[in-house]
Amino acid sequence: MNIQSLNKSSKVNDNLPTFIKNKLNQYPRTVSRGAKNGMPLILGKAPNKDSLMLQSNDYLSISKDPKIIKAQVNSLKKKNRDAVMSAVFLHEDSMQRNFEAEMARYVGYEKAILCQSGWAANVGLMQVIADKDTNIYIDFFAHMSLWEGVKSSGAKAIPFRHNSANSLENLIKKNGSGIIVVDSVYSTLGDISPLKDIASLAARYGCVLVVDESHSLGTHGPMGSGLVAELGITDQVHFITASLAKTFASRAGIVLCSKSLGDWFPYVSFPAIFSSALLPYEISGLIATLDAVKNSDKRREELMFKSKYLRDGLRKLGILIVSESQIISLEGGREEVTENIRDELEARNIFGSVFCDPATPKNRSLVRFSVNSGVSIFELDKIISACDEFYGLLNIPPKLKLVS
Ligand SMILES: Cc1ncc(COP(=O)(O)O)c(C=O)c1O
Repeated sequence: MNIQSLNKSSKVNDNLPTFIKNKLNQYPRTVSRGAKNGMPLILGKAPNKDSLMLQSNDYLSISKDPKIIKAQVNSLKKKNRDAVMSAVFLHEDSMQRNFEAEMARYVGYEKAILCQSGWAANVGLMQVIADKDTNIYIDFFAHMSLWEGVKSSGAKAIPFRHNSANSLENLIKKNGSGIIVVDSVYSTLGDISPLKDIASLAARYGCVLVVDESHSLGTHGPMGSGLVAELGITDQVHFITASLAKTFASRAGIVLCSKSLGDWFPYVSFPAIFSSALLPYEISGLIATLDAVKNSDKRREELMFKSKYLRDGLRKLGILIVSESQIISLEGGREEVTENIRDELEARNIFGSVFCDPATPKNRSLVRFSVNSGVSIFELDKIISACDEFYGLLNIPPKLKLVS
């Protein structure tokens, strides 16, 4: 049978049961929700080669570093017996285990476990450390992968008010000790967790602390070793997780932990057991990337300077910017307003990323800029002037403006 005859004889069975059809019928309303172009709100115009793009999380602009590419290509060219399999079968002397040891030393932990993504790291960790009898105190704005991890562990999620150590303490007093879960830098608004206060609470009430450093590993701390390291609270944070698809510009995630958990993680975390390992060329790329990240102090300085430049410029226009990092968002609130912000920016060939439900609460939608060290001041000025032109004309709710 050839492909043509296969295509002729195969018929897609669209005779789905009503319970699925009912779900499918909801999607046009929940995904495109009346956007002017009938598309999901996240998709405005397609960018072109001259567009100013601030969507990528390659914060240090290292993804095209020739040394990283060369390491990947050399690995692909090698004639070795690379197995395509789960990492559960890897021995201690494998390239992955050696890279993990390097990462552990870099961030300041006994063990590091490489995962297929930040999502797999968070889901795997929560499944391994929690069960139905565990209280998990989770910041309301923590990343969805942490919420999914809580779900998959069967534990009870006890959400606390975003970045509020007070709210967290009241809930611990009421429910008893447990696991506290936060992001270091929040991926939608770019604000930073009060990590020192939260770490003190964890110590006072005998709680375990998990910090997702996806948006601070590589950008913050000595040689980019993270915000927990910068704050000097490594001994108070039991677990760090991170996506390596941000500053490390790869397709991977990581869990940093003590030896007691790290020795078992590969054999008990379901994503680690039941999903295949990264390929050797990806690990070769990561080894070269770690070297590039460590040696990027100049780029980190540029990133900090340029992020502050954009935050200050937007604040001067009276726009409420809660960010203290390289993630800087224009909050529209209602989706129609965010759509207008997106369209005004895209009309000037500027592209951020739209975030809306389920990535934000309903009516807290926004356009996010991810600043990188390679963007020019001229380009940042272009964004500030664009906002100056259109911001006053949009129906931005007063609570999203700075009071002058
Ligand atoms: C804070 C945070 N944690 C985890 C993830 C998931 O990472 P990955 O894309 O590597 O699965 C992301 C990515 O959006 C994130 O922003």
